[in-house]
Amino acid sequence: MELEPRFSETQIREAVRRIALELSQAYPDTCPVLVGVLKGSFVFLADLVRELTIPFEVDFVRARSYGAGTGSSGKVEIVTDVETELKGRHVVLVEDIADTGLTLEAVMEHIRSRQPASVRCCALLVRDGCPQPDFRGFSLGPGFVVGYGMDYAEGYRGLRELRALAEKRTARS
Ligand code: PRP
Repeated sequence: MELEPRFSETQIREAVRRIALELSQAYPDTCPVLVGVLKGSFVFLADLVRELTIPFEVDFVRARSYGAGTGSSGKVEIVTDVETELKGRHVVLVEDIADTGLTLEAVMEHIRSRQPASVRCCALLVRDGCPQPDFRGFSLGPGFVVGYGMDYAEGYRGLRELRALAEKRTARS
């Protein structure tokens, strides 16, 4: 499969540092719970927390979307839930990509039912036209992006940079 460069390691590192600074300034002494949306967010979250200068906790959710074809449109179900007691806590959802934004919206709704003090969201990549998360890295045009935790058929998650599949896809394209 042919891959085209999208964002380099250096660009990603700079974006992660910028987001970490924004988070560190937004949550100076409230020990937010960073909730990674599995699986794609695991690399971004790992790098992000190592740039934070504030106390924090980490937890995870796994969401699965059902819909037509391979796209993420459709109903989103939480298949693995957080373990942390979120009532009264400040929560930041961490996504690798907000594509349609449906996953973030569904997870935010789910987290709100736990009565947190606040919920905000963060995504490294935001597809053009998608609702804007509170903290974000890059805007993304068309193309199915892989690497830095993101997969195509479970492959490419270990790429250090972000690349796009040359072939046209229905999901993330
Ligand atoms: C991807 C990505 C987001 C979601 C974004 O997950 O990691 O969770 O799609 O799409 P949306 O904004 O249109 O809802 P994917 O379904 O590929 O699962 P994975 O993270 O386990 O690879």
